[in-house]
Amino acid sequence: GVIRQLSGIDEMERLLQEKLNIDKVVIVNGDSDTSPWVIDELGRAGAARMKSLLTGKNIIAVTGGTTMAAIGKMLPNVSELPNVEDILFVPARGGLGKGASYQANTVCEQMAEKMNARYRVLYVPDNLGEAAYNTLTSEPAIGEVLDLLKSSNIVLHGVGEAKAMAERRKVSFSELTELEENQAIGEAFGYYYDEDGNIIQKVRTIGLQLDDLPNVEHVITVAGGASKAKAIKAYIKMAPKKPTLITDEGAAIQLLKG
Ligand code: F6P
Repeated sequence: GVIRQLSGIDEMERLLQEKLNIDKVVIVNGDSDTSPWVIDELGRAGAARMKSLLTGKNIIAVTGGTTMAAIGKMLPNVSELPNVEDILFVPARGGLGKGASYQANTVCEQMAEKMNARYRVLYVPDNLGEAAYNTLTSEPAIGEVLDLLKSSNIVLHGVGEAKAMAERRKVSFSELTELEENQAIGEAFGYYYDEDGNIIQKVRTIGLQLDDLPNVEHVITVAGGASKAKAIKAYIKMAPKKPTLITDEGAAIQLLKG
């Protein structure tokens, strides 16, 4: 639209696509760090992007976080959409604990309800020991969800700052020290990584792994706020599959500077 052209957002999107070497960037106005309502705009844009990719037969994997929750919130009720019965939402990770309202399971359920689609749940704790991990993955109910995840054709996910995510997850002092010593900058899918996109730590969790991404048709990364710029940039370096990026002006300005 005219407003987007006048405000230079279209041009910023083009420049950021070039800079990050990805096919598609969508930038919403504002900075979600300083203007909390901007997260809803990220949600709206993420929802629009996802809807534009629906073929009527989709398995959509989603992670948790407040940005993903905003997508669920901003998704319009689309019960009139054709073929939604063939759309299935699957949580990308188990994740139990505090903050249930923005966990992948909850986000999935909300998206599915809005779209009158189906969903699965994955109730397993993070940071499993090896034995528990092996036992749980051989459970048929969990194995089924893992198979679905591996055949998902759309992945919607968030990116966080390493420190903020480690705090949200209340990681141990030794893990925190390890992250700091290795200069962890960002986190996505349970992987903590540094500025160059090297993986530093991985939460042992049941769900989608980075190695699964190359098989996914569309990966949509939704993250904004100036404070996440470095985490976003490093994620794109690390990502085994180049995503579409939905971000805000706050992050975009920093990304274009750096
Ligand atoms: O915990 C799930 C998750 O998607 C993380 O992988 C990511 O770092 C974080 O949420 C983003 O959360 P928020 O959108 O609240 O910043």
